[in-house]
Amino acid sequence: MADDPPVPAGDDPPHDDDTPPDGWPAPPGVDPSIPSSARVYDYALGGRNNYAIDRETAEKVFAVAPEMRAMARQNRSFLGRLVRFLSAEAGIRQFLDIGSGLPTQRNVHQVAQEIAPGSRVVYVDHDPVVLRYAEALLATSDTVTAVQADLRRPEEILGHPDVRGLIDSSQPVAVLLVAVLHFVPDEDDPLAAVARLKDAMAPGSHLAVSHVTSELRPVEIGRLVQLSARAGAPWVARDRAQIQRFLDGLEMVDPGLVTAPEWRPEVARSVDPEKMWVYAGVGRKR
Ligand SMILES: C[S@@+](CC[C@H](N)C(=O)[O-])C[C@H]1O[C@@H](n2cnc3c(N)ncnc32)[C@H](O)[C@@H]1O
Repeated sequence: MADDPPVPAGDDPPHDDDTPPDGWPAPPGVDPSIPSSARVYDYALGGRNNYAIDRETAEKVFAVAPEMRAMARQNRSFLGRLVRFLSAEAGIRQFLDIGSGLPTQRNVHQVAQEIAPGSRVVYVDHDPVVLRYAEALLATSDTVTAVQADLRRPEEILGHPDVRGLIDSSQPVAVLLVAVLHFVPDEDDPLAAVARLKDAMAPGSHLAVSHVTSELRPVEIGRLVQLSARAGAPWVARDRAQIQRFLDGLEMVDPGLVTAPEWRPEVARSVDPEKMWVYAGVGRKR
């Protein structure tokens, strides 16, 4: 698509061969005639865990806002590079992926376990539909699990028996808040929720954030924010300074808070500021 940013080979989320083919029966409790934002996101990424209703919904959004597909790809590519960095360079062996979405392209446990088999991953999402898919799609394993909990209530996450069972709070952990904080409005005090998560992290832990920004393309993002509200999952697009505050108190990992494609790209490339939608950054707790 013309609006997609150039994504270098090896940096584009590939199709997973182990995901079910299109037409795969919906898990119990999932109505395939109702669109799901998680499956729409999967479709935007070129995934196959979506139904006709999701594709129709996505195409309607792309018709109004073609930048949506580029945004999804920028974000997911960042996630892959992020987990490789955390695993290969920062030595992280346990991950708490909050707002994990549907198991889709290049999931966190797949990337982490390629580098360090035995890495432990807890996926957290507040959407019960996501949990049904996670149960059906994730290989049963004693190193990977998914729990239903809400980022706005961090005690629910930290106190969840499956989180306590898999994540050793005395050891460094990576807490991933990738494309989730823009679903939490200021009145729900996302800064306080993130501060609680930072408090609970052992020294050497990392917090990763990616977030839709209002700063680079205010007119287009304004249109997307309106669309998201009409679709029932309203976004809050924040500026760079507001996003940086989530990482306050941490030592920023190079290159700091930058647009997602600029965060440790695997292939050097020029970034077109006209096509940047998402800021991304990682902080390390001393
Ligand atoms: C755009 S998806 C991001 C998926 C994945 N993190 C990624 O970046 O590829 C956002 C996910 O956040 C979840 N979410 C939104 N608000 C949440 C909250 N308050 N607590 C937990 N999950 C939330 C949604 O259900 C959705 O699955």
